[in-house]
Amino acid sequence: MKKSFVVFLIVLVGFLAVSCKKSVAPALDTNTLPITPLPTLKGSAPFLIGASIDPTFLRNNLRYRETLISEFNSITIENMMKMNNIQPERARFDYARANELVSFANQEKMRIHGHALVWHEALPGWISTFQGDSLAWENLFKTHIQTVASYYKGKLAGWDVVNEAIDNDGGTRNDNSSQGSIWRRKLGADYIARAFLYAKEADPNAILFYNDYAQESNPKKLEAILRMVEDLRKSNVPVEGLGLQMHIHINTPDAGIVNAITKYVKTGLKIHISELDIQLNPSNETLERPTVAQLEAQRLKFLTVVRAYKTLVPKEQQYGITQWNVGDADSWLRTYLKKNEFPLPFDMNYEKKVSYYGILEGLR
Ligand code: XIL
Repeated sequence: MKKSFVVFLIVLVGFLAVSCKKSVAPALDTNTLPITPLPTLKGSAPFLIGASIDPTFLRNNLRYRETLISEFNSITIENMMKMNNIQPERARFDYARANELVSFANQEKMRIHGHALVWHEALPGWISTFQGDSLAWENLFKTHIQTVASYYKGKLAGWDVVNEAIDNDGGTRNDNSSQGSIWRRKLGADYIARAFLYAKEADPNAILFYNDYAQESNPKKLEAILRMVEDLRKSNVPVEGLGLQMHIHINTPDAGIVNAITKYVKTGLKIHISELDIQLNPSNETLERPTVAQLEAQRLKFLTVVRAYKTLVPKEQQYGITQWNVGDADSWLRTYLKKNEFPLPFDMNYEKKVSYYGILEGLR
């Protein structure tokens, strides 16, 4: 073989070896691939995302706990700080179950919202038989507020001080109807102002809220709340935040939602969407599972609420959005009102529903 031919062969083999090596893709090492984490509610929001919670679910259901930890950074105590639970007998305060939730939230570095110091519902039995003059009633009222608020002083970001004091006709809820309030009857209409003053004395740093429902569907009630808050502010009563419960349904008009948020924002106070859930079966038909159309309508309504909150509420007024419990199975609409409902963004097994993605889209 000629020497020049041998050289040619060597060069050729070398060239082929190099170019083959170049064209072979390196083997994938799946351990070192960057993993894009799935978005979460709390990770996608510029404000806090909350859920109301209950100790029985938290104790017994791992999926419940995991969903809370991965998706939420705020909690509201759904029932355990209400008067029937926290002062079950006169002058006996029982914080044990509320404290389970407080410890959980502290451990997970979540914000805690207290609910509710004064409400005409969830009263302990002893209240209805309590005998006393107006001074004794005032004392009972003040003692309840200040004992509980002092106990939690510094531990809660905010309190729903007065819950649902305005009735559906725009009056102060009195005790003459099914919508009645024992507080109004025993203490006079300005019990509302005194509740805020007592709470402020006990926990000066908690943000104090007035919380109510149906502002998006009942303009009379909305206006009545706004008037009340204006009067309270004029008299230096420390109302510092407004809660829109937002127990709504897929047919609640968007315009009402936008109107309520817009008017609330004008007060300059902190705004909390405090108990969000969206019924998809408002006529309460027998329904084994929701239809695709109902789920889609629910997704759009979640999107509307979240987008309206994000775009209409200035940053410094955003206290956050809280949904009323975690998954469909946990909702008070099923457990308490016995409705055939699926009102939350997680289904019975804590899988994400399309509504979950509606919320993410609203946050974008
Ligand atoms: C509800 C709870 O979700 C139920 O578990 C409980 O049995 C009754 O109260 N408005 C409020 C909340 O402010 O406190 C209510 O919570 C729902 C309506």
